[in-house]
Amino acid sequence: MIQVALVGAGGWGKNLARNYSQIPGCALAYVCDLDPARLEELHRQLPGTRVTTRFADLLEDPAVQAIAVATTAAKQHGLCKAALRAGKDVFVEKPFVLTVADAEELVEIAEQEGRILMVGYLLKYHPAIGRLKELIDAGALGDVHYVHTQRLNLGVIRKDANALWYFAPHDIAVSLYLVGKEPTEVAASGQSFVQPGIEDVVFTSLKFGTTAMAHVHVSWLEFHKTRKITVVGSAKTAVFDDRQIVQKLTLYDKSAAHGGSYASFAEDITSRVGDISIPHLEMDEPLRVECQHFVDCIRERRRPLSDGKEGVRVVRILEAAQRSLETGGMPIHLSR
Ligand SMILES: NC(=O)c1ccc[n+]([C@@H]2O[C@H](COP(=O)([O-])OP(=O)(O)OC[C@H]3O[C@@H](n4cnc5c(N)ncnc54)[C@H](O)[C@@H]3O)[C@@H](O)[C@H]2O)c1
Repeated sequence: MIQVALVGAGGWGKNLARNYSQIPGCALAYVCDLDPARLEELHRQLPGTRVTTRFADLLEDPAVQAIAVATTAAKQHGLCKAALRAGKDVFVEKPFVLTVADAEELVEIAEQEGRILMVGYLLKYHPAIGRLKELIDAGALGDVHYVHTQRLNLGVIRKDANALWYFAPHDIAVSLYLVGKEPTEVAASGQSFVQPGIEDVVFTSLKFGTTAMAHVHVSWLEFHKTRKITVVGSAKTAVFDDRQIVQKLTLYDKSAAHGGSYASFAEDITSRVGDISIPHLEMDEPLRVECQHFVDCIRERRRPLSDGKEGVRVVRILEAAQRSLETGGMPIHLSR
């Protein structure tokens, strides 16, 4: 039985607690939070799980093999570092940490200690995104021209980091996954309306050389909740809409094409319109898939799909996007 402990029993931590306590072969040994009221509530739901306000209890118990960290962005680095140093495998929620230096340090410690470090880029575990990735890799969309993501809602307005750091990690991670290339340039613009210096809405553009781009739109000020990703390819367009119950992924066999007559090149470009299809998906709760993946990686000592190095890639883009935000949207070149 793999014993996992959780630190951070807030709005999202509760979902992690539920999943880790239900996975076969895994036990949720402890939940730690600074807030006793949150612990009391969780203990009522999971009476077999010990609760504590002392993080050291998790580190000191040799039966605890892994620690899941879901606190606030600014605190996750210190907690992950202590957990890795204590010989625990670590799952950490996005945004992971707030600087590339901190991210690289955690990757290095995980390597030194022979520990697994996984970052919770949830969309990579979504069955519809998995199917979309298969379709792209099989060439069904042709060349990926661009990805456009929208993560909008009127939700929790954070105080310790902006909408870029809290919302965009999912979409940046998934853009890298779907495009399958390294970005060369990032630019971001946004605005703080509610709290000074904390952007509520951010538009981030990524360029992948001259062959592809991604545009990531995040906001916690829009009352209409949207979770959408559009992938425009040279042959087909795919739309992932997580707000749909059944039709989460739709393929449009539509694209711009040359008709074959070269009398006038410009006049020869036409729109090709074909079928619209809805691929069948074996749906499962993405968070369950993600937690199960962590437990499998612990058991089999294998590298997670979203490991620490992936975390470094995403944080590097977030850090550059933040710099761009602070300089009025100036494009930032990303060196390898
Ligand atoms: N994957 C997703 O889709 C998703 C969704 C929401 C949040 N998250 C991430 O999960 C994390 C938590 O978000 P949330 O919405 O639950 O936040 P929250 O503010 O509701 O809860 C955070 C909890 O952490 C506790 N905490 C803070 N520092 C602590 C410490 N040093 N020791 C013990 N407990 C501590 C707080 O008391 C609080 O209960 C964040 O990193 C967030 O980005 C991920």
